[in-house]
Amino acid sequence: MSLLHVINHPMVQHKLTIMRDKETGSKDFRELLNEISLLMGYEVTRDIPLEDVEIETPICKMTAKEVSGRKLAIVPILRAGLGMVEGLHTLVPVAKVGHIGLYRNEETHEPVEYYCKLPEDIQDRLVIVTDPMLATGGSACDAIAMLKRKGCRNIRLMCLVSVPEGIKRVQNEHPDVDIYTAAVDDHLNENAYIVPGLGDAGDRIFGTK
Ligand code: PRP
Ligand code: URA
Repeated sequence: MSLLHVINHPMVQHKLTIMRDKETGSKDFRELLNEISLLMGYEVTRDIPLEDVEIETPICKMTAKEVSGRKLAIVPILRAGLGMVEGLHTLVPVAKVGHIGLYRNEETHEPVEYYCKLPEDIQDRLVIVTDPMLATGGSACDAIAMLKRKGCRNIRLMCLVSVPEGIKRVQNEHPDVDIYTAAVDDHLNENAYIVPGLGDAGDRIFGTK
């Protein structure tokens, strides 16, 4: 069974509260999402392995630590997942970025695929899939399935707000994928929106409504 990591650091929770507020505009929303993504990135990368490296400081030689072999890829689910890339990239500047385009059909709420461009060696990388919202879980499950078809075996899902329905679906369909979230909200409404949630993440990031 995949692990659910709820990142309840006070600064993450404080910033999320401002994002949820309907009076918060796109500029602040985007900036806060950037900041939270960097903070969540600390947890998502907490256990990546280190190896010894010999260096020389201005004072003497030493054996220091650096992140070892396994490389990272960030894969946002378009559009809203894009809002989490910059924060993660600040943390891991050498990470490659792939893109998966999915949108939810407004009536069926099922994801529809429209784009996929991934780094060539994606299967050798630890992949962090980003999407602010884990609602029914359909988009995340489809994106993860696409990555697995490309050979990825080491995948983590980072979402800002989730609900038990979406978490359960990801855990059932992809028990090998750990989920990192800042909040587990109450339920989905009749339009499959998260309650209380923060509204439509893509629209709030890009100002499309
Ligand atoms: C939103 C969100 C997720 C998806 C979550 O995207 O960013 O990708 O819905 O819902 P689910 O868990 O029920 O699949 P949306 O389809 O609105 O597209 P957008 O990011 O382009 O706005
Ligand atoms: N997508 C969003 O952007 N918000 C929700 O609450 C659910 C899906």
